[in-house]
Amino acid sequence: MAVRGQLPETVILTGAGVSAESGLGTFRDVGGIWSQYALEDVATPEGYARDPELVLSFYNARRANALAATPNPAHDALARLLKAKAGEVVLITQNIDDLHERAGSEGVLHMHGELLRGLCTICGARCDWRQDMHVSDACPSCGGVGGMRPDVVWFGEIPYFLEEIATMLQNCRQFVAIGTSGSVYPAAGFVAEARAHGAETLEINLERSEVSSAFERRILGPASETVPEWVESLLN
Ligand code: OAD
Repeated sequence: MAVRGQLPETVILTGAGVSAESGLGTFRDVGGIWSQYALEDVATPEGYARDPELVLSFYNARRANALAATPNPAHDALARLLKAKAGEVVLITQNIDDLHERAGSEGVLHMHGELLRGLCTICGARCDWRQDMHVSDACPSCGGVGGMRPDVVWFGEIPYFLEEIATMLQNCRQFVAIGTSGSVYPAAGFVAEARAHGAETLEINLERSEVSSAFERRILGPASETVPEWVESLLN
């Protein structure tokens, strides 16, 4: 395990709200993705087993939307912060888009996977994948057909990087959640974990989240305004 000195002082967790002003829909706001699709059909291993083409077409649409979107001032501000405080700040995201990277953030931990990656369920290989995905696609590694899926974490699966994240939460000085409703665990429990280990906690969101009362401080408003202001206050 890494020693305290090598761990980030600030851990930031982002959710769909940070990409909302780039035109990517959130999940649980009015008209959100989960009001248009049944989560069990498109975001579970069982849904994929029942109707893989439906699941792939859901993610094809989301991939196309994400590729057409551009980072907003919240992504840009976080990239500035990461660059200015290299090694002191880590960015964990539940988002599967690549807007943090396109804004210039490096080393982002995509705990729910990435839309622009494919995973072969036959051989386990992962690869870059920017185009639409279909059941008839072959895995670039093993050549097997019928096993490709997006490299995203579905309900009932274990998010990525959980051990590293736990170590960081237990050792950070500050935990900040941005644009997440606090409805999905384990991410919704990060604030409690960080606070139990002595971190200061801040929520930046359009409105109070489900776990808002677990935070000591909150800044409410659209991320494109609140995040740049918060970042400037840290850097000045
Ligand atoms: P949600 O859609 O659950 O929550 C988005 C949050 O962002 C809400 O609290 C909104 O109030 C807030 N929000 C909306 N617009 C905003 C803006 N312009 N500025 C700031 N905040 C804004 O999305 P997540 O919390 O990210 O998982 O959802 C967590 C997980 O649930 C996702 O990663 C996904 C989903 O089901 C999987 O698919 C496994």
